[in-house]
Amino acid sequence: MRVLVTGASGQLGTDVVDALEGRIPIGGAATALLGGSQVAPGEFEVTSITHADLAVEDQGAVGRAVAAAEPEVVVHLAAYTAVDRAETERELAWSVNATGTSNVAAAAIAAGAHLVYVSTDYVFDGTKRSAYLETDRTGPRSVYGETKLGGERACPPDATIARVSWVAGFHGRNIVRLAVDRALRGEPMRFVDDQRGCPSFAADLAAGLVTLVRARLAGIVHLTNAGSTTWFELVRAVVVAAGGDPESVSAITTSQLDPQPLAPRPENSVLQPGRLLADGYDLLPAWEDAMHRLVAAFVEGSLRDD
Ligand SMILES: NC(=O)c1ccc[n+]([C@@H]2O[C@H](COP(=O)([O-])OP(=O)(O)OC[C@H]3O[C@@H](n4cnc5c(N)ncnc54)[C@H](OP(=O)(O)O)[C@@H]3O)[C@@H](O)[C@H]2O)c1
Repeated sequence: MRVLVTGASGQLGTDVVDALEGRIPIGGAATALLGGSQVAPGEFEVTSITHADLAVEDQGAVGRAVAAAEPEVVVHLAAYTAVDRAETERELAWSVNATGTSNVAAAAIAAGAHLVYVSTDYVFDGTKRSAYLETDRTGPRSVYGETKLGGERACPPDATIARVSWVAGFHGRNIVRLAVDRALRGEPMRFVDDQRGCPSFAADLAAGLVTLVRARLAGIVHLTNAGSTTWFELVRAVVVAAGGDPESVSAITTSQLDPQPLAPRPENSVLQPGRLLADGYDLLPAWEDAMHRLVAAFVEGSLRDD
């Protein structure tokens, strides 16, 4: 199957390309995930598109690149992901996340390809007291969330919209890497304990996305590692896994953050995988399991660097 991936050198994109090409991403589980079988050699012929190749807001460049690759599936990961900066770069965020997605969708339709668009938990306002289902009303609180919802609305009805959340992978700057670095230096940390979500690990999401590429499901799918937590609890668990002192992490509330972040975050953005359960898929492993694999990879990497 010919698959074109945008955002291919990003945190998630690097692992998605590895998974499609049959390599287990760093921190990935060797076993098949989400009911998918392992990738056979040559099962996918991958065209990787990075920001250096083209800007997704350039309609002509997107059209030419997609037409040349003749993909059967397009996995669209390229995005403006700076959540706080988006509050002051509203136009750029809209043009990358909404117009860019509209360009990718139009090019996929012209090529007869199925679109898999990766979206976010930040499309929700966070006021629900229980986990969000795919069918729940959206109401983003930030420009980033609004623009990613704009991207969802630019997708054709038969596209797969995979909402993921709190992503950390080996190839990105993320909270797990930051917490491991600080734990190894013995530095104290303060994290908020009043925002709850589902941590998701790029290697596991990549395996899940391989399954979604094969399945070509139409509609919205919530895709995360199983279980939920707060940023404080996540960081404390990472510090323990890295051999650090859990007492070095203290809990604060969002209102105690100084300076206050520019973009408001949802208090609760736990995603319920209603669609995957209804369709009989196995779910991704618990976040603790994936977190231990990623922390081990970071610790091993930093010991090698020393
Ligand atoms: N990280 C999270 O916690 C999270 C949570 C929910 C959903 N998501 C979604 O998951 C997807 C992957 O995110 P990620 O964590 O892998 O983020 P990432 O590392 O920032 O990857 C995004 C990629 O898009 C590229 N890009 C940015 N602007 C572009 C443009 N105008 N044209 C073409 N490419 C462009 C970036 O390239 P440069 O860096 O070279 O600009 C980068 O390689 C995104 O759609 C994001 O919205 C992420």
